[in-house]
Amino acid sequence: MITARALVAATHRGPLIPRLVTAAVTPSQITKPALKSLDQWARYLSKAAATANDGSFAAFTHLPRDRPWTVIGIETSCDDTSVAVVTSDRRVRALVTRHQTKQHEATGGIVPTAAAIAHSMALPGAIREALETAGIRNACEEIDAVAVTRGPGLAPKPLVGVHHMEAHALTPRLTQEAPPEFPFLSLLASGGHTLLLLSEGLSRHTILGTTLDDAVGEAFDKVARTLVLPWLPTGGGAGAALEQWAAHATGGYAVTFPVPMRDGRDKPASRLNMSFSGLKTSVFRHVQTLQESDPAAWSAAMASTEPSSGIRADIARAFQDAAVTHLADRLDCVLAETITVRKVHPTCVVAAGGVAANQVLRARLGDVAGKYGLRIEIPPPRLCTDNAAMIAWTGIERLRAGLVDPWALDYVPKWPLNEFKQSESARL
Ligand code: KG4
Ligand code: ZN
Repeated sequence: MITARALVAATHRGPLIPRLVTAAVTPSQITKPALKSLDQWARYLSKAAATANDGSFAAFTHLPRDRPWTVIGIETSCDDTSVAVVTSDRRVRALVTRHQTKQHEATGGIVPTAAAIAHSMALPGAIREALETAGIRNACEEIDAVAVTRGPGLAPKPLVGVHHMEAHALTPRLTQEAPPEFPFLSLLASGGHTLLLLSEGLSRHTILGTTLDDAVGEAFDKVARTLVLPWLPTGGGAGAALEQWAAHATGGYAVTFPVPMRDGRDKPASRLNMSFSGLKTSVFRHVQTLQESDPAAWSAAMASTEPSSGIRADIARAFQDAAVTHLADRLDCVLAETITVRKVHPTCVVAAGGVAANQVLRARLGDVAGKYGLRIEIPPPRLCTDNAAMIAWTGIERLRAGLVDPWALDYVPKWPLNEFKQSESARL
């Protein structure tokens, strides 16, 4: 059984199917027979590979079809902590087994709680050693599936299923000096979502506004691609690159883009929602026209590979200004609506998700919150973008509320945050 001392939290998110499989193929009797069980895994995987020949299994699971699969196996059902890396072409690339003889000698037999603690202590090191021995440098890329013993054996630690967007919203409760208390209002701006939420508790998030088309991060990414902006070595992807180029703008090349949905501001349907696809298209068109009308100016602008002033920086800033203004506008509308119509007084405003790493956006949102006498709480940039700390933290919050999930947890490909019911998780 998996007995990691830390809580085990797993993300359930969007269309990405998590690297999969919890397989119970090991017998619980293990010392030497560990090798036997690995052999069984290899056979299991070969069988699965054969099923994949018709394409359906591999297509469903995202398992590679052009190379053997690499699976990490974890065995903790009794008194040995064992981690292996095995491939579907029957190679055991690593096998690390830590025996617990010392722990159990004194008691003259295996005490399950002592065994569980020993597994917790041994697992991180054993996993690291197995990956190193197998020569795995990038586990994310190279490990195709995880196999863990489900039973029979020691009882597992709780599993907590986490909604990726709830995790973004709760991150400031981990990172901020004054952790936001419910109810609070959040702007979650990422590559897949742009949400204005009223969060009143765990699993209690009301979507007040959303994008009607592209997510804001997606628009940042596409505009950065149109401007052929190289990514920064410091990370953050296309959005962070665009922010850096925009910071070099001098205004020497005069360009502005209209703020989306400004005209429809008073219409109830569009007052709280957002749109970024029109803005993105305006940038495409502008660049296309420029390339056609003044190809020399465009190729001169393309010369720089480092963030620098010039046409590309000015266009990046014009786009960023319009996008940030749109988000700030909508936060303003949502705050007004929440306080005056819903009569809910949020304790503060939260911003999170990758785009909330953007310094210009952070400052603008702070101004809007300040207008309502509210503080803004935004995690540090590296915890705005996707990270496992937010997943573990949300696991802790849910555990504290007594919310755990069955081990047979399935992933949820489409999971609107406001359809996220508390009843989906069992109470401890
Ligand atoms: O939350 P996140 O890491 O992943 C998703 O859940 O989608 O957000 C990623 C998005 C990407 O579109 C990325 O370009 C954008 O956040 N992003 C930024 C910045 N850093 C990351 N956008 C604007 N400015 C940034 N500094
Ligand atoms: Zn995210």
